[in-house]
Amino acid sequence: MATYNTQQLQEIDGLHHIHPFTDHKALMEKGTRVITRANGVYLWDSDGNKILDGMAGLWCVNVGYGRQELVDAATKQMRELPYYNNFFQTTHPPAIELSKALVDISPPQFNHVFFTNSGSEANDTVVRMVRHYWNLEGKPEKTVIISRENAYHGSTVAASSLGGMKGMHAQGGILHDIEHIEQPHWYKNGGAMDPDEFGLKTAQALETRIREIGEDRVAAFIGEPVQGAGGVIIPPATYWPEIQQICKKYGILLIADEVICGFGRLGEWFGSDYFDIEADFMPIAKGLSSGYLPIGGLMVGDRVADTVINKGSDFNHGFTYSGHPVACAVAMENIRILKDEKIIERAKNDLSPYLQEKWLALGDHPLVGEARGIGMVGALELVKDKDTKTSYQSDQNVGMICRDFCFNNGLIMRAVGDAMIICPPFVISHSEIDELVDKAKLCLDLTWAKIKS
Ligand SMILES: Cc1ncc(COP(=O)(O)O)c(C=O)c1O
Repeated sequence: MATYNTQQLQEIDGLHHIHPFTDHKALMEKGTRVITRANGVYLWDSDGNKILDGMAGLWCVNVGYGRQELVDAATKQMRELPYYNNFFQTTHPPAIELSKALVDISPPQFNHVFFTNSGSEANDTVVRMVRHYWNLEGKPEKTVIISRENAYHGSTVAASSLGGMKGMHAQGGILHDIEHIEQPHWYKNGGAMDPDEFGLKTAQALETRIREIGEDRVAAFIGEPVQGAGGVIIPPATYWPEIQQICKKYGILLIADEVICGFGRLGEWFGSDYFDIEADFMPIAKGLSSGYLPIGGLMVGDRVADTVINKGSDFNHGFTYSGHPVACAVAMENIRILKDEKIIERAKNDLSPYLQEKWLALGDHPLVGEARGIGMVGALELVKDKDTKTSYQSDQNVGMICRDFCFNNGLIMRAVGDAMIICPPFVISHSEIDELVDKAKLCLDLTWAKIKS
């Protein structure tokens, strides 16, 4: 491959590469940051700058960068069988072994998986399977899926329709029969209510909406155990038990989107374990392979699997790379690493308490309205007035200002509006957590100074 310097890479990138979720005019003005290598929790750019990756890539590199075992697993599998599919009554050992490994770590009602290449495809699959299930159950009119405002379930047409991001709905259209209810964002919307009261109120919005639409039309409810891309929104303790109870009462299917929460992010294998959610489906991706290769899947609970397998014939759905052997081999090895090195236990018992104590202390900063966190994920809500929770104007771009300071000071934090997000790899050490929090504090100070000036 040709070797280009940073400027040449930026020029070619600007000329030929359309980036996801990026304002290209701004990108051309600023130039892209070119990441060239990584190890542990650190990235290096094409100018040799070292950056602490506070976001584990895009919420996915749970075991950290540079794991030779994952490289070896991919190499070995590529030599043996680089590709074969699982269509039309064929299969291969990596897909078989991974399906068993996933069933072993999932809540007990999950005994089947459908493989995809991404979280978006997992959520496309869920839309089709939910509707297929109700057809087979003789209730084809049950097509409506209820989701939440500001949810993120991916970028394909079906996944973005499930999501509650208005900016996405405005581009490219959305599917019919997807409804959105209020998200359980206590800091923003809780008003005078205490969190538990607000959790119940937002969960009960599901029942109200079911009644408005008509029980006979509602097929399923979907939610991320903790909303990630919407700004790390942690539901009050009362939320999920009430949602569960409503789904049971009306017999509607419950989908826990585990694309971020799965594989240890909350200190348990799944967010469903953390919140005691008994879901019928779990879309998974990201941490399944720690991002080393694209792979996702849909864990299918017994209630649905029994119908789809025993009452149906073909499920007319699948991807050329569903259960790709190399991606499956890497995911298997990733799960082995998580288990053998007790990485999730360490995240829960050691890293998360250490990280959260320091992270929540950033709530004292004059710019921070709320510091929140759970497991290995956290957010800082930047506000103009802490007492009244007044936000900055959106055109002040406070989150982006802070994000840029982070970039320039060797830390990746993501800005979701004016919420600053972290989601570090689970192999981060205490001293690296200190570095992350110190740099975050420095960048809050710089942002604060810039806004004041
Ligand atoms: C909860 C959730 N679901 C689905 C997706 C989509 O996954 P992918 O980007 O792999 O398609 C994401 C991505 O961030 C996500 O956070």
